[in-house]
Amino acid sequence: MQTIRDTNGLRAARNFWRFGKETVGFVPTMGNLHEGHLTLVREARARADRVVVSIFVNPMQFDREDDLRAYPRTLQQDARRLEDEGVDALFAPDESVVYPRGTQASAYVEVPRLGAILEGASRPGHFRGVATVVAKLFNLVQPHLAFFGEKDFQQLLVIRRMVEDLDFPVEIVGVPTQREADGLAMSSRNAYLSAQERSRAPLLYRSLQEVAGALRAGATDCPALERRALRRLERGGFRPDYVVVRRRADLEPPGPQDDALVVLGAAWLGRARLIDNVLVDRPGPRAVAAAPAAAH
Ligand code: PAJ
Repeated sequence: MQTIRDTNGLRAARNFWRFGKETVGFVPTMGNLHEGHLTLVREARARADRVVVSIFVNPMQFDREDDLRAYPRTLQQDARRLEDEGVDALFAPDESVVYPRGTQASAYVEVPRLGAILEGASRPGHFRGVATVVAKLFNLVQPHLAFFGEKDFQQLLVIRRMVEDLDFPVEIVGVPTQREADGLAMSSRNAYLSAQERSRAPLLYRSLQEVAGALRAGATDCPALERRALRRLERGGFRPDYVVVRRRADLEPPGPQDDALVVLGAAWLGRARLIDNVLVDRPGPRAVAAAPAAAH
């Protein structure tokens, strides 16, 4: 595996592969890699001839200086794991390589509405930072395929929208959330949990699953389901930011006809802010009508 720190080195590797008509798969990350990240890498390995992984803790997407400073940086250990996974190139640029003019003076990409709600409302400027750095990385790596986790479902949609609206020649592949044995979604931020918080943490996923289960069973009062989940989280020691049922395509509140939904939640537990989501296909009107008959 080559470790590349500057843009010239990256261009050279990419031109060489492109010249040989090889396909390039790309996995952008902020490092401190866990099995969730490695699942993306394995998916890329399976679907592309060459795999590039980037590790860059992107200052533009952090709304809090302390969060940026505290973010775990474990480059050497990450590089060893990527080598073991058969990755072709690790792109690990310094901040001055990505933002030679600094983050304030740089041009940026903004995805309106979709980037401003939920995580975007809780963390102003977050998705501008994500979309901008991913656009830059796409232009540097020029991958055929790029892999993103469903764990950050809104991020996945923001990237899909950016690629669609700005005609980036890249296929976005979403990869299902990898979880610990007790259901907690894997995340670098789980390391911030104390032992006692860690044992409570799966309640977020369980609460979202409960909402999803009710929707599958035909419940229609989303605000009531959301309120119940919020109360359950509060009783479990969380400080919830939101639990919402949204349309899967654009994260708008669902109408009665929408059946492809997603339940999204974000909540603080101690000093960790956890996010998670569950996809739900609500039974259509015919399925609901058929359910009682099928039960007999
Ligand atoms: P990071 O949090 O390092 O995540 C990198 C990728 O791994 C993202 O696509 C994320 O959704 C995915 N991922 C994280 N945990 C996962 C899990 N438990 N299961 C499946 N996939 C998981 O997301 C970012 O970095 C940044 O915002 C980035 C896109 C790199 C832009 O800076």
